[in-house]
Amino acid sequence: METIGIIGYGSMADMMVQKWLEKRVLDARQFMIHTRSETERLHQLKEKHDDVNICSLDELSASCDVLFVCVPPLAVLDVLDQLHPAKKAIHIVSVAAAVTLDKLTQHTNQLVSRYIPTLTSAVGTGVSLVAHGVTVGDEEKKRLNRLLSAFSIVREVEEDRFDAASNLTSSSPGFIAAIFEEMAKAAVRNSELSLEEAYEFLTYALLGTGQVLVEHGLTFAETVNRVATKGGITGEGAAVIQKQAPQMFDDLFTQTMKKYDQLKSQIDEANKHH
Ligand SMILES: NC(=O)c1ccc[n+]([C@@H]2O[C@H](COP(=O)([O-])OP(=O)(O)OC[C@H]3O[C@@H](n4cnc5c(N)ncnc54)[C@H](OP(=O)(O)O)[C@@H]3O)[C@@H](O)[C@H]2O)c1
Repeated sequence: METIGIIGYGSMADMMVQKWLEKRVLDARQFMIHTRSETERLHQLKEKHDDVNICSLDELSASCDVLFVCVPPLAVLDVLDQLHPAKKAIHIVSVAAAVTLDKLTQHTNQLVSRYIPTLTSAVGTGVSLVAHGVTVGDEEKKRLNRLLSAFSIVREVEEDRFDAASNLTSSSPGFIAAIFEEMAKAAVRNSELSLEEAYEFLTYALLGTGQVLVEHGLTFAETVNRVATKGGITGEGAAVIQKQAPQMFDDLFTQTMKKYDQLKSQIDEANKHH
């Protein structure tokens, strides 16, 4: 029975552990969790699943097979530095944005992979992005794939495309929410609808659109065409989006990519001082 180590127990770690327990992919006894402070979230997990092991970094690195590092980007390399060389082989999986495989391998001799989670895995869907260090073998890849498949679709993407892909898998629920917030506000400005009504109407439209896309295998363009009949009202609205959205989304990519670069520089900077 494999042992799963977790360092840091924030929203992402909690999402993963809860899903694995809920889907019975892993048993509570298989978890070894280390956090720098005692948090309410971890306390609640322990209350519900007493068999979860809360332990020191040393205990964790002595026993686990796969180790998920779930701390903020600027803390990841620091955490790796604190791990004493383990006697056994561990597959370290970092969930942090902007911490490259190259950086990770400079701070550990173990096998390393990256995994970018998505909030939507909390409801058992979404794409988990993975990238593996060159030394990671098929066995380890398969094991990680099996774990993440419990709550997502797993896609391997080369690291040079990782940030752009993360925009579409991990950040996109936030972007989609921001877009629909604006649409709801526009409805209120331009009609007698209340904000509550707008939220409800759009939320179910969003849920249903996703389901139609997946279950009927439609493309976005096909979905637009289904709703927007020639010369109709929806077509008028879609044309406004088609005209104005490209610039907005180009800006979104420019700004987010800039932010990734900044974060990478900050990580470099922080590690110079160590
Ligand atoms: N949220 C998302 O949708 C999302 C998506 C993709 C990737 N990620 C990545 O997932 C990682 C965790 O995100 P999250 O949303 O789960 O964050 P979070 O809820 O803020 O949790 C962060 C965890 O890291 C711990 N931590 C913070 N600073 C630390 C340090 N210097 N040393 C050791 N532990 C430290 C925190 O412990 P304390 O409670 O003691 O502060 C907490 O347990 C990040 O690297 C992020 O890039 C997040």
